[in-house]
Amino acid sequence: MKVIKKPSSLQEITEFLRLTGKRIGFVPTMGALHEGHVSLLLNSSDLCDITIASVFVNPIQFTEETDLEKYPRDFKRDYFICQKANVDYIFYPSVDDMYGENYLTEVKVKELSDKYEGEFRPGHFTGVASVVLKLLNIVKPHVAFFGQKDAQQCTVIKKMVTDLNLDTEIIVCDTVRESDGLAKSSRNVFLDETERSNAAVLYKALELGGDLILGGKYNNSQDVSSQMYHFIKSQVPSAEIQYIAITDNKLLDEIKDLNNFEGKVLVSLAVKFNGVRLIDNILLTKKGILNHVT
Ligand code: PAF
Repeated sequence: MKVIKKPSSLQEITEFLRLTGKRIGFVPTMGALHEGHVSLLLNSSDLCDITIASVFVNPIQFTEETDLEKYPRDFKRDYFICQKANVDYIFYPSVDDMYGENYLTEVKVKELSDKYEGEFRPGHFTGVASVVLKLLNIVKPHVAFFGQKDAQQCTVIKKMVTDLNLDTEIIVCDTVRESDGLAKSSRNVFLDETERSNAAVLYKALELGGDLILGGKYNNSQDVSSQMYHFIKSQVPSAEIQYIAITDNKLLDEIKDLNNFEGKVLVSLAVKFNGVRLIDNILLTKKGILNHVT
């Protein structure tokens, strides 16, 4: 496994790999790797000849300076995790390598970037879309892998890839969960023991939402989200609920008529536990909750 720091060096390598007919899989990360990332890396090494992971804490997607400073960084640990997960190249640029002097360009996926997460983290998805486009231009992968936990991010990236005719397939992999349902996340390390056990309420609330929708008694998504809200508050009164959304998973429009909706329903939420902000979601079809943890 090789570590590459300069965008131009990686561009030379991937150009050669493409010419020799290799299928390139790419997993963009900000490091602090966990089992969720490992599953993306293993999916890539299963489906592709070469797997490239990037480790880059992207400053322009953080809305708060303190969040950026506090973001967990341990490259040595990430290196060993990548090695075990069959990664061939790690792209590990500095901020200067990515945003040299006088960097001026932004990519914004309008509307999708401003709702839900975007309301609480203005500018976040413009930072994500901009860095992902740069990374895709540097790596030129045939396939890029993202986790379903960041559902809105997946939607924004897929829309950017379609709208800008990018030649990369986006594969979204299932959320990896702890045994009590908590989604694996780099932010979980900030939870103390009590907050960690309280955070299990998120998946229970999502299950409740899923069951209410599937039960067919509620047609209006506001009624379902209100039940989920009261459930979380009854279990963890200190939880700070930022949003609970019941939408389609393409344009993230609220579903008004649940009983007559045909596509996949995305139930998503963001909740703060003593300042630690967690997001999670489930997807459901008429048949049930997809990848349900029992
Ligand atoms: O999901 C992440 O870790 C980041 O948002 C990404 C996609 C690597 C862009 O910085």
